[in-house]
Amino acid sequence: MPPDCLALRTALMPVMRVLMVCLGNICRSPMAEAVLAHLAPAWEVDSAGTGGWHAGESPDRRTLAELRRHGIATSHRARQVEVADFTRFDLILAMDRQNLRDLERLRPRDATATLRLLDSTEVPDPYYDGAEAFAAIYTQIDGACRRLLSEATP
Ligand code: 4NP
Repeated sequence: MPPDCLALRTALMPVMRVLMVCLGNICRSPMAEAVLAHLAPAWEVDSAGTGGWHAGESPDRRTLAELRRHGIATSHRARQVEVADFTRFDLILAMDRQNLRDLERLRPRDATATLRLLDSTEVPDPYYDGAEAFAAIYTQIDGACRRLLSEATP
């Protein structure tokens, strides 16, 4: 879809509240948050980790560099998923199946959010890899976000 057409369709669609989730909230999910927020500026988009070890930190420098290469900025600080997220967001998108299992264990009875994978192919953890792995997940995440937006369009 041409970018101007995507922007028009995005402006017409209902505002969605979307939470992107990975393990540490410093590599994959802050990248997914920034890409979706860039494509759908009216949506409420956030990210969080199933683990809390990196809480308060900026995204990994390789995530920041890859976003910068595409002209996308972020001011996200890592945080852990909390129970309130299951009612605050419409859609919670996990990067991999382990994240999804961890989210299902945390899900409270009154959860209203839909839980699923961002992409049917898991977004692989790039933490122990190089810049190429971050470029590859960017491409995957960008494609998955564009598909999400076209599915959400009436
Ligand atoms: P993320 O990547 O889940 O995509 O943020 C990771 C970040 C940190 C660690 C593992 C994965 N870690 O082991 O600290």
